Parts: sequence; C-alpha cells; structure tokens
Amino acid sequence: MNIGIPRETLSGETRVAMTPEIAKKLIGKGFTVQIEAGAGVRAGYPDADYAQVGAQLTDRAGAYDVDLVLKVRRPTADEVAAMRDGGLFIGLLETCGADEILTAMLTKNLRVLGMERMPRTSRAQSMDALSSQSNLAGYRATLEAATRYGRFFPMMMTSAGAAKPARVVVLGAGVAGLQAIATARRLGADVYAYDVRPETAEQIRSLGAKPITLNLGESGAGEGGYARELSAEAKVIQQLALGDELAKAHVIITTALIPCRPAPVLVTAAVVERMRPGSVIIDLAAANGGNCPLTVANEVIEHRGVTIVGITNFPALVPADASAFYARNLFNLIEIMFQTDSAKPQLKELMQDDITAAMLITAA
Ligand SMILES: NC(=O)c1ccc[n+]([C@@H]2O[C@H](COP(=O)([O-])OP(=O)(O)OC[C@H]3O[C@@H](n4cnc5c(N)ncnc54)[C@H](O)[C@@H]3O)[C@@H](O)[C@H]2O)c1
Repeated sequence: MNIGIPRETLSGETRVAMTPEIAKKLIGKGFTVQIEAGAGVRAGYPDADYAQVGAQLTDRAGAYDVDLVLKVRRPTADEVAAMRDGGLFIGLLETCGADEILTAMLTKNLRVLGMERMPRTSRAQSMDALSSQSNLAGYRATLEAATRYGRFFPMMMTSAGAAKPARVVVLGAGVAGLQAIATARRLGADVYAYDVRPETAEQIRSLGAKPITLNLGESGAGEGGYARELSAEAKVIQQLALGDELAKAHVIITTALIPCRPAPVLVTAAVVERMRPGSVIIDLAAANGGNCPLTVANEVIEHRGVTIVGITNFPALVPADASAFYARNLFNLIEIMFQTDSAKPQLKELMQDDITAAMLITAA
C-alpha cells in the first residue's frame, strides 16, 4: 500500500499532512510513503528528515500516483485528475453537499473520506482533526488579539501606575472557544463567555471565566452535543441581550457556528460602534460569513477604531504543531482502516466501521 503526500497548493496553506515521525510509523507497519519534495518545508519539516526515516522523495505526479493520497485541504480539479482511478483520498474536504470537485472524484471512482465528517465520539477523539486544528486556532487567535490590542491583557502594577486587565468576551464555547478562554485566562485577562448550549456554563467556569447567561425562551442544544439553529425571534433576542456585554468588551473572540449553516450574527455593526476605539474582534467564523457582519474574510479591517480580524486559517500560523496533530489524527485513522499484522497492509471494509462509514463521501 503506497501512500502519497503532495505539497499543499492553496494560497497561505503552510501545513503538510505527514510528519517524519508518522512517516516512520507507517513504514514500520508495511506502508511505503512517497512525499513531494518540499511538501513539509513551510511547516518546518525538511526533505532530509523524511528521507532519513525511509520515505521516498518524489515529484508532484509521484505523490498523486499512489493507492492512498493524504492531504490537508481539498484537491483542485487538476489534482483529482492526477489521482489513480479507484484510489483512496483522505483530507479536509470542507463540503456540505455535492459540488464539482466531489463529482470529479466520484467520476474517477475515488473512495473519499472527509476528515471534517469524523463523528465527535470518544472512540474517534484521537482522529478528530477539526478538534485538533480548532484547538490551535483558539490559542493562536487569542495571541493575535493580545498583540493587536494596544493595552495589557493582565492587570499590571508598575512604578508608573497600574493597568486594568483586559475584558475579553468569547462567543461559542466549543473546541476553539474553550481554548481561547483558557489562553486568555493564562494571559491574565478578565474573561466572559457565552454559548447557546447550557451545559457549557460549567466548562466556562472551570477555566476561570464567567459564563454569560441569556433567557432566549428556547434551548439552543441540538443533537449529538451540537447546537441547533435558533428561531428568528430567538436570534433577535440573543443579539439584543448580548449587546451590552459586548459593547463593554475590549476584545471579542467569536467562534459560534453550526456545521453547514451560515454563521449566526452575534456582534452587530451597532455593537461594534459602541465598543471603545482600540478594541479588537477576532472572528473565527469569517470563512462562513462571520459572526460579525463587518468581518471581511482573510482581511484585517478597522471600523471606527475597532480592529476586526478575518483570518480564516489560524492553524496555518502554527504549522509545525498543526501538521503534527493532523498527521497523528490521520495515523490513528489509518490504524483502524487497515489490517497491518501481515507483511502487506490490507484495507478493511469501510462501511463496517461506524467511523469510516460516517466519513465516506463517495462510493464505498
Ligand atoms: N479561522 C480559523 O482559522 C479557524 C480555525 C479552526 C476553526 N475555525 C472556526 O471556528 C469555529 C468554531 O470551531 P469549533 O471547532 O470550536 O466548533 P464547535 O462546534 O466545537 O464550536 C462551535 C460552538 O458555537 C456554539 N454556537 C452555535 N451557535 C451559537 C449561537 N447562536 N450563539 C452562541 N454559540 C453558538 C456551539 O454551541 C458550539 O459550542 C467554526 O466556525 C470553525 O469553522 C476557524
């Protein structure tokens, strides 16, 4: 079983799907690994480190002409064309329905596993790339806020006087949000957080932050631990009720999302205009329309003195660890997909396992 690792081609993508550590483990289990020259350089993994553990360095075509392609991001049409008919592909497809790339993959009889479809169960935790990457995003987003905010995060007592701690509000206490809360607390900020799922209040408190509770007249808790979309009336109540808390914030880190839905508007333009100049909003939902309507994806803008950051790929700003976590997620998945006790790894029946069955986007 031949595994190929192409260099990522999406603009700004610095991650790589395989580290030398994981290449070594896979080779030890009987796989061969072909990696495109330079694929790991931007993440801090030079070609020589892969060669040293027995991976073969190849060109672009060689990384696609394999049994199993591992990638971080969805392939382009050209990349799909370069794959073998009937081959396997695993990556973050980030798709909520059929589109032209999936159709092209289907036409080639590729078996495609979308990492974003990993069930959020305890057995799947070690393979959950959305969580591993969101965790890093929450951390890195908070550092971005701290460097862009013109004041201290912690309370500071100096000979020139005292500085008050920053008031940070985190919206959405999922994976990214909880890490943002923890990071802002570690930096000494006064942290408040809000989520529609009532069970998050305890998690927020356990990190030393204060939960914001609102009475929306309905529950935001949905199935499988996810939030559900609120009614139009509840959305209006939510925006109004959050307004005063948000207007007082020096920093807002917003992460609210329901998979495959447009991001809910939580920070209205009117609220931004009530914030103090010098305040910072980091909108982690920028790629899905943003939790603030003023956010521009992939840009940093200023609105009446408030900086609004729409970076859509924070994990790419921590590429070495983001790649290491992603590669480990893939390795743990490959371990359940293949029988590796004989000399040649054998692919198991993908529909027989609830994890691979849930991830499979195209034919089995
Ligand atoms: N910009 C980046 O670089 C980057 C990187 C990773 C993740 N993300 C994004 O960050 C967001 C969060 O990712 P995650 O993995 O933490 O997801 P998650 O599903 O774990 O968390 C999302 C949270 O939002 C909450 N939520 C949903 N609707 C809400 C509402 N109306 N009000 C308040 N809370 C609400 C949910 O209950 C959930 O706790 C997603 O938009 C994801 O795409 C961005």
